[in-house]
Amino acid sequence: MKVRVDPERCQGHTLCAMRAPDIFELSEIDGHSSVIKEEVSDDQQDEAVEAVRSCPERAIFIS
Ligand code: F3S
Repeated sequence: MKVRVDPERCQGHTLCAMRAPDIFELSEIDGHSSVIKEEVSDDQQDEAVEAVRSCPERAIFIS
């Protein structure tokens, strides 16, 4: 599974990083999210899906 954040959509709600702190990190400058590692391990897939569901801007995509 791969995960990415659309920087145009992200508004810095932080929920993704709270749900999955090993997958997402927040910018200290603007609070926007980016992925730490694009490829998500099998044991982190549930966290990634939770993060997708938590984002009110629908800024996270998994494939
Ligand atoms: Fe951004 Fe959504 Fe996370 S708005 S900080 S990707 S919860």
